[in-house]
Amino acid sequence: MPILRNTDSLRNWRQQQRGSLALVPTMGHLHAGHLALLRLAQARAEQVLVSIYVNPLQFGPGEDFASYPRTLESDLQQLAERGCTTVFVPSDEDLYPRGAAEQTQVVPPERLSNILCGAQRPGHFTGVATIVLKLLHLAQPDILVLGEKDYQQYRIVGQMLDDLNLPVQLLCGPTQRDGDGLARSSRNSRLTSEQRILAPRLATELRQLCQLPVGSLVQAPARDARERLQAAGFAVDYLELRNSESLEPVSEIRPGARWLAAARLGDVRLIDNMVIP
Ligand code: PAF
Repeated sequence: MPILRNTDSLRNWRQQQRGSLALVPTMGHLHAGHLALLRLAQARAEQVLVSIYVNPLQFGPGEDFASYPRTLESDLQQLAERGCTTVFVPSDEDLYPRGAAEQTQVVPPERLSNILCGAQRPGHFTGVATIVLKLLHLAQPDILVLGEKDYQQYRIVGQMLDDLNLPVQLLCGPTQRDGDGLARSSRNSRLTSEQRILAPRLATELRQLCQLPVGSLVQAPARDARERLQAAGFAVDYLELRNSESLEPVSEIRPGARWLAAARLGDVRLIDNMVIP
């Protein structure tokens, strides 16, 4: 499995490729969620490029950029064992040669990016859109695969592809969960054993909220769920029902609307979402 360590080698590799290509962008510390995205990509394209890059542009001051888990050797081994075609592992100097502050950036529309995670993490989705667009220009894939767990990211990137007329098909891989319901995330490995026991309560609350009768008002049950999480030890950033397309607030239970939540246990920020069937 070739490992491409800079943009020149990626461009050279790409020029020699024939057949359809799917890109799975990741920040590494791969888990079952990423491997499911790899399988989806392998089912839809002849070749799969996985990128591993912890993008400094999408972390704010005081966020977990420095402590974000980096496990390149085991990531590469897992990808090779699963038949990944090629891996792209660029460096900061290569992707942002003028430094992050000098980088031209892609600013997604405020309506999608200043809400939910964007309200707590100013500039986060600008950093995400910028790195995803750079990766698309470099790899020129036919298909881009993102995970449903980062649902707001998926919607923002979808709109970017549309707005900037990029000829790329976006696929969304369903959230993978541990047996107790906790959504798989690279950040889960930073939970203490006590926090790990508490963490699935976020998914439990979302699952219960999804079972409310169609037509019922959401304000009171959402507040009760937030209070239960807070009493259990979470710091809840948001827990809200939104339209799955526009991400606008929804005030009563409707099939197709989506519960989205972010909550912190210590310094580990968990996000999750579930659609009302
Ligand atoms: O979802 C992620 O891991 C990242 O936000 C992404 C899409 C790889 C961009 O850095």
